[in-house]
Amino acid sequence: ARVDKAGHKHFMSKEIAEQPAVVARAIEHYLQGSDIVLPGDGIDFTKIDRLTLVACGTAFYACLTAKYWFEQLARIPVEVDIASEFRYREPPIPNRTMALFVSQSGETADTLAALRYCKEKADKIVSVVNVTTSSIARESDVTLPIFAGVEVGVASTKAFTCQLTVLLLLALKAAKARGAQSDAELATHLSALQNLPGAINVALGAGDSIRRTARKLSEARDVLFLGRGLMYPLALEGALKLKEISYIHAEAYASGELKHGPIALIDKNVPVIVMAPRDSLFDKTVSNMQEVMARKGKVLLMSDSQGLKEAGDDVWEEIEMPAAPEIVTPILYAVPAQLLAYHTAVAKGTDVDQPRNLAKSVTVE
Ligand code: G6P
Repeated sequence: ARVDKAGHKHFMSKEIAEQPAVVARAIEHYLQGSDIVLPGDGIDFTKIDRLTLVACGTAFYACLTAKYWFEQLARIPVEVDIASEFRYREPPIPNRTMALFVSQSGETADTLAALRYCKEKADKIVSVVNVTTSSIARESDVTLPIFAGVEVGVASTKAFTCQLTVLLLLALKAAKARGAQSDAELATHLSALQNLPGAINVALGAGDSIRRTARKLSEARDVLFLGRGLMYPLALEGALKLKEISYIHAEAYASGELKHGPIALIDKNVPVIVMAPRDSLFDKTVSNMQEVMARKGKVLLMSDSQGLKEAGDDVWEEIEMPAAPEIVTPILYAVPAQLLAYHTAVAKGTDVDQPRNLAKSVTVE
């Protein structure tokens, strides 16, 4: 299918804007009433004791997020690995392991090699892909499409949020099969998912204020991202997005690691982007923020109105997100992270859709 920019200046901004629609489409596809329906014979999670999730790049951060969901919601132990490490380490695969590969293109060489390593060893090979005719899709026992549509921008946006959406549905499916959540809890989580496209739409409304913040951020040489729990993988993805397209050096840390190294970098020139909805870990993150501000660090806080209020007046910049149930916040907060990277890159005048040295799909090692 031929795709155009539909009036946008870049494919990336078009693809960011499409997210309410494509996330809704993915949810609609898998959810029939209150049942999560998988293609083919599906997956029997009562026969699985452990998951291994493998991917590269942005898809790897989707896997890191999914670890929290599978462990917390379904109580299944999860290992996550980068495909290029996994394939050469040749880890033992115990019985009753499901191996899950996440790839937008379905053609990433390292991810495909990792999948082939797991054949005959894992009980089930599952893939989460955008391109359903791809090698990774073909070689899996069960393929779960993400329905993002064609993604042109090299920096992945809508594929990431659709990957997360499908992984969350899968974690909820596992939770139900294993009796790890009550029916009432499951119903609450499903309604959080159904409200998500609307919340993403509201998040997109922060675009103008993010553009103004991005102009200031574009002057930085180094940027730190901090997040805890479900926001830690998001911090990693936010840093990746920023470095990929704006070429600003960006690193992410779990907030609790701040005092184990990165705090040495803090001064008035290093913006610290804190991704922190008012969730169960918020108070911990606020105290990390105070440590940054006490060293004259400039904090850019992404939170909801309650979180912004509790954080006080000393933050440098604020990005307000709608309040949302904790389990869907990684999908929601992907949006401001993408917009911030996008507008910073535009302010710097880089080639947003075709950043230097990067390829959309890495099919050779
Ligand atoms: C490249 C792309 C990234 C992508 C990664 C994995 O590095 O530039 O956007 O996340 O490959 O690609 P995959 O197609 O396997 O998701």
